[in-house]
Amino acid sequence: MKQILMTGVGSYLPETILTNNDLSQFVDTNDSWIKQRTGIESRRKAKPEELTSDLAVRAAEKALHSAGLAANDIDCIIVATTTPDCTFPATATIVQNKLGAFNAFAFDVQAVCAGFVYALSVANGLMSSGQGKNTLVIGAETFTKLLDWSDRSTCVLFGDGAGAVVLQAEESEDGYGIIANTLHSDGRYKDILYVDGGVSSTGSIGHVRMQGRDVFKHAVEKLAAAMDEVLSIAELTADDIDWLVPHQANVRIINAMQKKLNLADEKVIKTVSTHANTSAASIPLALAAGVEAGKIKPGHLLALEAIGGGLSWGACLVRFGRPG
Ligand code: ACO
Repeated sequence: MKQILMTGVGSYLPETILTNNDLSQFVDTNDSWIKQRTGIESRRKAKPEELTSDLAVRAAEKALHSAGLAANDIDCIIVATTTPDCTFPATATIVQNKLGAFNAFAFDVQAVCAGFVYALSVANGLMSSGQGKNTLVIGAETFTKLLDWSDRSTCVLFGDGAGAVVLQAEESEDGYGIIANTLHSDGRYKDILYVDGGVSSTGSIGHVRMQGRDVFKHAVEKLAAAMDEVLSIAELTADDIDWLVPHQANVRIINAMQKKLNLADEKVIKTVSTHANTSAASIPLALAAGVEAGKIKPGHLLALEAIGGGLSWGACLVRFGRPG
C-alpha cells in the first residue's frame, strides 16, 4: 500500500517587518490592543514588486532541498493562495516556470485560510490514485495587498509569506504520511468574511471585510469538531498528537484549541506573534519553523487545522517524514 509521505519542508518570509507600533503611525490602533486581542506583535510585508509566486518559489526551493529532490523530479505543483499574481494563469504554473519544474502539472486551490489543508487533501487524493509521485504543496500569500489600511479591524491582523512541503508516494510502513483528513464548507456564512471585489462583481480587486467576533465563534467550534473527526477516522486520540500545527489567525483561537485537546504548551507550534495571519501560508510556515527549531522530528504525529472565508475549514493528521 502506498503512503503519501511528507519528506520536505521550506518557508520564506519577505524582509520588511511591520510592527504594531509602525501600524499605529497611520491607523488608530496600539500595540497593547493588538497583542492582547490577537497575540500579534509584528508581521512581514512584501514589496510592491514582490509577487506571491516569488515567495512561493523561495519556499519551494527550500522544501525541495530538504527532501533531496530537484525541480525536475516534481510531477505536480499545487499552490494554495487567495492572492494570485494575476487572475489567470494559475500562480502554480508561474511557480513551475520559475522553478524549471517542467515535468509537473500545476494548478491553484482557493480556500482562503483553509487553503493549505484543502491542498494537502487534494494532493493526497491525486497521489493515492497514481497521479503525482512527487508533489509540491505550497501555501503562499501577499495578503497585505488585499487590505484596506484605513480599516483597523482587519489591517492589523494579516501578513505575507510562503511555506511549502514535498509529498512523496512510496511503499512504506503503515501509519506514516497523511493519515486522515476532513474538509467542510458552509457558504451561508459568506458575509462574515469576504473580499468586496472580484472579476465578475465589481471588476476590481476589493478589500478584506470581516465580522471578527462571529468568525472567532465559528472558528473554535468548527475546528474542534474537525479535529475530533480526523482523530476518530485514524482511531487515535488527542494524547497521540506530538504537535498541533494550527492556522495562525489569533493566539486566543489557538489557545482555545489547545485547551480543548488538553495539550501542553510544548506540543503547540505558535508563530502568530511574528507572522500574523498569513492565510494559506500560515500552516506550512509554522511547520517549517517547528522543523527548523528541532521540535518536529520524523515519526512525530502532526495535527493541522484551519478555517477561513467561505466559511471553509478542515483538519489533517500527518506522521512526519519517513520511517527509520
Ligand atoms: N485597535 C484598537 N481598537 C480596535 C481595533 C484595533 N486594531 N480593532 C477593533 N478595535 C475596537 C473596536 O472598534 C471595538 O471598539 P468599541 O468597543 O468601542 O466598539 C473594540 O475594539 C472591540 O472590537 P471587537 O471586534 O469586538 O474585538 P474582538 O475582541 O472580537 O477582537 C478580533 C477582534 C481580533 C478580529 C477577533 O474577533 C478575531 O480574531 N476574530 C477571528 C478572526 C479570524 O480568525 N480570522 C480567520 C480567518 S481570516 C481569513 O480567512 C482570510
